[in-house]
Amino acid sequence: FQPKALAGRRVLVTAGPTFEAMDPIRGITNHSSGKMGFAIARAAREAGAQVTLVAGPVSLPTPRGVTRLDVQSARQMLQACEAGARQADVFIATAAVADWRPEVQADHKIKKDGSGQPPAVRFVENPDILATLAQGERARSGALYCVGFAAESENLVAHARAKRGRKGIPLLVGNIGPLAFGRDDNELLLVDEHGEQALPPGPKLVLARQLIAQIARRLRPAA
Ligand code: C5P
Repeated sequence: FQPKALAGRRVLVTAGPTFEAMDPIRGITNHSSGKMGFAIARAAREAGAQVTLVAGPVSLPTPRGVTRLDVQSARQMLQACEAGARQADVFIATAAVADWRPEVQADHKIKKDGSGQPPAVRFVENPDILATLAQGERARSGALYCVGFAAESENLVAHARAKRGRKGIPLLVGNIGPLAFGRDDNELLLVDEHGEQALPPGPKLVLARQLIAQIARRLRPAA
């Protein structure tokens, strides 16, 4: 009998874009499909973990056996993650969190005022969910293993190494090749304290299973 690689572990995953409202109808978002994060949540569940998936607005079915929390904004995603991280053993941040949000969210639809002047929208920076959790006590004590993603169009290895250091995380996963948004295939580069390791290109679910196996190997033994 071989116990599953993540049996008894709790895994928290973020996926999809965030939506940052400027009024009740409008806002800014991005084209993240959520597919990679949903595949990772499914793979973690298959590996025996108890999985919480914090999802921005996406149209994907919830993987079987996974607890899903739907959120809109980066701040809501952070709140859900801070709550989930209190018990989690692994945090995997795949969400394409909007870097900025409109400074003001109007209570009512912003109307044309007849002046011909469009409204000025000021942006403020969103919290970095991954960096916030990685700086938390549980991550710093080694109880919470944090994994980040990077989508870079050039110099992936250098950027991925730098991002791993900046975010203060043990494992950074780079998307190799053209932007993977919406596609079913992907190619991943794992960057940890030992160096780089490429996973061969393949469907996101196959890669997700390989990534989960790699993460499981890096966890400290269960208490
Ligand atoms: O800094 P950058 O956005 O390139 O970092 C990407 C990684 O950080 C991803 O793992 C992403 O999910 C996470 N992230 C986050 N909160 C943000 C921005 C990025 O958790 N506000």
